Amino acid sequence: MLSTMRVIVVTSQKGGSGKTTLSGHLAFQAEATGHGPVALIDTDPQGSLAAWWNARAAHAPLFIQTDIGRLFNDLEELRSQEIRLVVIDTPPAVTGTIRSVVAHADLVVIPARPSPHDLRAVGATLDIVEGRHKPLVFVINGATPKAKITSDAVVALSQHGTVAPVMLRHRTDFSSAMIDGRTVMECSPASRSAVEMTELWAYLAQRLQRVQPRPAALIPGLDRPVFGRHHADIPTAVPVAADEAPHHGFGRRAVNPT
Ligand SMILES: Nc1ncnc2c1ncn2[C@@H]1O[C@H](COP(=O)(O)OP(=O)(O)OP(=O)(O)O)[C@@H](O)[C@H]1O
Ligand SMILES: [Mg+2]
Repeated sequence: MLSTMRVIVVTSQKGGSGKTTLSGHLAFQAEATGHGPVALIDTDPQGSLAAWWNARAAHAPLFIQTDIGRLFNDLEELRSQEIRLVVIDTPPAVTGTIRSVVAHADLVVIPARPSPHDLRAVGATLDIVEGRHKPLVFVINGATPKAKITSDAVVALSQHGTVAPVMLRHRTDFSSAMIDGRTVMECSPASRSAVEMTELWAYLAQRLQRVQPRPAALIPGLDRPVFGRHHADIPTAVPVAADEAPHHGFGRRAVNPT
């Protein structure tokens, strides 16, 4: 049970890494294990998480319709309504949206597939998260456990942050469960996929208990509402502080598969 509201931001520059799948499943599992009330927010103009929630028959977790310009105020409103956990899905590609949203995170979850493309793309996401000094957890998604690329991915990512000890394997039921707005835990609670997701949430819940939520007014650059439209290209929504520029001085860092 979380004592005060926490915000998980699920983000990765790489398209298709599993952000929406994780957002919906983790929010459901948090609610199911008594960490709610849980609210979902979709900041991706593709609206996949919103579409999933619209297809859902169950009302929990809640879904909050907002946009980047209202996010600060809406999170404060959710806090005052005693929401305990907010899970925010983000668009692929590095944009002002991701930068703005990550500023609100108590914990950033970065899904990555064990592929060279995903691993190379992680550097850009890391720059944003580290620029905001946010705790992060990588989650390997779509893994083939015995493949060398999977263990290589764990090694490569662990040099840049914590890798969740639970990885999600490539399983078609993650997709099929979401067709009618459900999760693998609802469709087949005894399945391996459901067990993996349950264990992943248990791990993340522990991590969340340990992070100290910061009052919104103390978030650098967010001591006032930000203005913008619900669109991926609003890079000026929150100015990037000098200390957020890539600190290595030669462009985006690459996380190379070994
Ligand atoms: N572990 C998995 N096993 C099999 N399929 C998966 C797994 N995780 C995600 N998928 C499928 O991969 C596709 C991409 O996943 P998802 O939409 O969650 O990624 P995303 O990061 O949100 O994508 P985008 O960047 O476009 O928003 C979906 O069809 C989803 O059902
Ligand atoms: Mg998505």
